[in-house]
Amino acid sequence: MKVFITRKLPGEPEKLLKSNGLQVEVYNSDEPIPRELFLKKTKNVDAVLALLSEKIDREAIDNFSKCKIVANCAVGYNNVDVNYAKEKDLIITNTPNVLTDATADIAAGLIIACARRFHEGEKLIRDKKFFGWKPNMLLGLDLKNKTLGIIGAGRIGFATAKRLKAFGMKIIYYDRNKRMNFEVELAAKKVSLEKLMKRSDVISIHLPLTEQTFHLLDKEKLKLMKSTAVLVNTARGEIVEEEYLIHQLQRKKIFAAGFDVYENEPNINPKLLGLENVFLLPHIGSATKETRAAMSILAANNIINVLKGKKPLTPVF
Ligand code: GLV
Repeated sequence: MKVFITRKLPGEPEKLLKSNGLQVEVYNSDEPIPRELFLKKTKNVDAVLALLSEKIDREAIDNFSKCKIVANCAVGYNNVDVNYAKEKDLIITNTPNVLTDATADIAAGLIIACARRFHEGEKLIRDKKFFGWKPNMLLGLDLKNKTLGIIGAGRIGFATAKRLKAFGMKIIYYDRNKRMNFEVELAAKKVSLEKLMKRSDVISIHLPLTEQTFHLLDKEKLKLMKSTAVLVNTARGEIVEEEYLIHQLQRKKIFAAGFDVYENEPNINPKLLGLENVFLLPHIGSATKETRAAMSILAANNIINVLKGKKPLTPVF
């Protein structure tokens, strides 16, 4: 049976797949595979190990002649037309759990970087404008005793909240469901999104991108934020109405924002580049050697299970 891997990946999942008797072809590049080639290469394979850059839409699904599983090497799967995959009995898996801590580390890092103005401090040094300690230089915000609002109280939201709890923050969260780990372990309360936006000193987004969460933080919600608040997004750019967030940052209506994801990724709104009160990362939430290897190995194990007639380890439905 044949497997196609759409990129050169850490962890060498091809070795594991081959040692399980599968034929493997890798698109051995650091760049995304061109669409036409992707369609050609996946037409007659039994499984695809894909990334967020591959659209698994109707066209891609209809093009498969015998593919049983697309193992997405990411926790998010907004690149997949899940309803159509379901209709066509195509198994879709993602890579939850293994990237929780790495992503929470990046969220916590962005929160600290924004509250303590890392970008401005770094720039001052690189521009050779640091002439010694000054009592009023680059004053930021304390995190201790402030309120952290977590939007989306799943695994990564919880791991982020746990980290910031250790910094002395109080936690509130917005989620469809009451989350007992938040309530019991973090003494956190579930609140409405409006309340969270109004009350939080720091807001961190941890939702999947769906039709319901697209622009969930729109103009109306962003307007509710305190002028001293920080917003951090390590989930998906499209959850926030980015143009309005930039407008608020330009007018100093909020203190700062930390981005790991962008609305039109990989295109970055040029207005962001001119802002002092933002900290910008290039979608590296899960980018550690160990985590990226664990993700590709989990994706490969999902394929092995399915092609051996067993249940996938981490199906999305
Ligand atoms: C990365 O954004 C992921 O969904 O894993």
